[in-house]
Amino acid sequence: MILGIPKEIKVLEARVALTPTGAHALVEAGHTVLIETSAGCGSGFSNEEYAAAGAKIVSHADEVWAKAEMIVKVKEPQPVEIARARPGQTIFTYFHFAADRALTEGMLATGAHCFAYETLQDGRHLPLLTPMSEVAGRMAVQEGAKALQAPQGGRGVLLGGLPGVAPSNVMILGGGVVGTQAAWMAAGLGANVYIFDVDLERMRYLEDVMPPNVTTIYSSRGAIREMLPHTDLLIGAVLIMGARAPKLVLKEDLKLMQNGAVIVDVAVDQGGCIETCRPTTHENPTFVIDGVVHYCVANMPGAVPRTSTFGLTNATLPYVLRLASSGPKNAVLNDPRMATCANVLAGKLTHSAVAKAFDMEWTAATEVAATL
Ligand SMILES: NC(=O)c1ccc[n+]([C@@H]2O[C@H](COP(=O)([O-])OP(=O)(O)OC[C@H]3O[C@@H](n4cnc5c(N)ncnc54)[C@H](O)[C@@H]3O)[C@@H](O)[C@H]2O)c1
Repeated sequence: MILGIPKEIKVLEARVALTPTGAHALVEAGHTVLIETSAGCGSGFSNEEYAAAGAKIVSHADEVWAKAEMIVKVKEPQPVEIARARPGQTIFTYFHFAADRALTEGMLATGAHCFAYETLQDGRHLPLLTPMSEVAGRMAVQEGAKALQAPQGGRGVLLGGLPGVAPSNVMILGGGVVGTQAAWMAAGLGANVYIFDVDLERMRYLEDVMPPNVTTIYSSRGAIREMLPHTDLLIGAVLIMGARAPKLVLKEDLKLMQNGAVIVDVAVDQGGCIETCRPTTHENPTFVIDGVVHYCVANMPGAVPRTSTFGLTNATLPYVLRLASSGPKNAVLNDPRMATCANVLAGKLTHSAVAKAFDMEWTAATEVAATL
């Protein structure tokens, strides 16, 4: 198959969908890899490294999209990219359809086959969401600690406090991958950490592995409101797979928070679990509502592209190889994991949670794949 790797064009996005090592593995498997010139530069990979791995360097994105049977990307296609997609082309990337009706309708209209990293399920795991969630969870604490500093509008507290000065309180909504990584970082800095979740099994696990300055609390509206007045840093890390995030903190609740407290809503890419959050970029990451600093960057790992590219491609490469070798039809029909990440096939929506988010019709991926 001919695979195309365009340079990412979302604001300040410097990750790339394939490392030179990954390109080499695909070429070894008999595929052709076209990579847009300088696509890897932001992650520290030169054209020469890709060429040495057997990839062909292509000078313009138009050519990559026009020649490739399968496009492998990092972020959701931007409007100019949607215009380049064509019927029957396979696109494998993060889409986060449920948070973006225009993207969903745009991709349906192209007739392309859209496989979304974030919904690929292996048992109970989401292996292609995990590495970026690990990065975002760790970054949430770094960014939150920075935003708590007075020059950034924060209340001027250090997460770990000092000998004789109490540490800060960090409240984490969702104890999954993001929440767990955030908890490790915040606990390591000496903060008091409170993880709110609704999955008792998960909370039992967290109680077992976390240090003593981490407490788990069953997530309910009452428990959340009770904690807000004592919270310095609130991290939103909830996920209901494929669906829009539930709003767990409403605008009226901000009044319960201290002036200069900080919210980092990592779940913003699924619509956010804090009502007042709206997506921001690395260029202008924060805004203030009711005295509370909001950080809501939708592509947090984009700020650490080299680490993120290694983390992402370590996870995606086996599935890229599988999809390229079988093609979309056989991948969906023969591998239940690939069926879980088929969100759009030949102009039909094939993911129930995305359909639910927009009250749209959907068809099972296997049913559509059988007709391809
Ligand atoms: N902004 C970014 O750059 C970025 C990067 C990576 C991931 N994310 C997003 O972060 C979010 C979390 O991802 P994850 O990998 O940690 O997901 P995950 O599935 O591992 O964890 C989600 C957790 O939320 C819990 N949950 C569900 N409903 C809840 C409720 N009402 N109250 C409290 N907890 C609840 C679940 O039980 C689960 O433990 C996702 O929306 C993901 O897309 C954002």
